[in-house]
Amino acid sequence: MLEIRIIAEAEKYVQELFAHDYSGHDVWHTMRVTRNAAQIAAAEKADLFIVQLAALLHDVDDIKLSPETHKNLDRAVTFMQKHRLPEDTIRQVCTIIREISFGGNPRTPATLEGQCVQDADRLDATGAIGIGRAFAYGGSHNRVMHDPDILPREEITPEEYRNHQSTTINHFYEKLFKLKNLMNTETARRLAEGREIFMRTFLEKFMKEWEGEG
Ligand code: ADP
Ligand code: NI
Repeated sequence: MLEIRIIAEAEKYVQELFAHDYSGHDVWHTMRVTRNAAQIAAAEKADLFIVQLAALLHDVDDIKLSPETHKNLDRAVTFMQKHRLPEDTIRQVCTIIREISFGGNPRTPATLEGQCVQDADRLDATGAIGIGRAFAYGGSHNRVMHDPDILPREEITPEEYRNHQSTTINHFYEKLFKLKNLMNTETARRLAEGREIFMRTFLEKFMKEWEGEG
């Protein structure tokens, strides 16, 4: 099957799979990551097919969405086998999916293709979209927006990252402002810079309004 057909099939597959998720891991996240990853890949001269396929499949076996297939990436593998992709491609894509998660065990992907997908995934947690996702996630996990008495935790273990009761505002300090420096590619770092400035402007205004100053 032509590569372009496989990408179209993968888009259809994730659209069906993510039809009922409202926690911020919806199909639009996957589509934004795929678009940004392709843009970064073009600028960095990475393999566009591998990057797009890995981006489209990066969340289908996410531990929160599909705990029973997470370990062996069964959904991603089954999709690729069904479309008769070579073993080597399947292995490359699976490696990328495993490498990119921030919450689990963040690693710098070994290949440029993996680095592009990781950057695009992280980029989607920043900027205006990142602000929207953070509050959507906070709401769906019963977190308050802000509590001046709960301070951000600068150093947290993966376990604490998942379980501790913090606030959405603290999430900016615990994760979102760290993302710019974690970008692998120059292209993504430039995009992240603009997005970080926007998030800082947002927080300044949020705090002013919190204090009743405007
Ligand atoms: P990933 O699996 O892509 O690393 P996460 O599940 O950590 O993603 O996060 C998904 C989205 O929810 C991101 O935009 C992230 O910033 C946001 N998010 C994760 N944890 C929190 C939190 N404690 N408070 C607010 N937003 C969060
Ligand atoms: Ni993601």
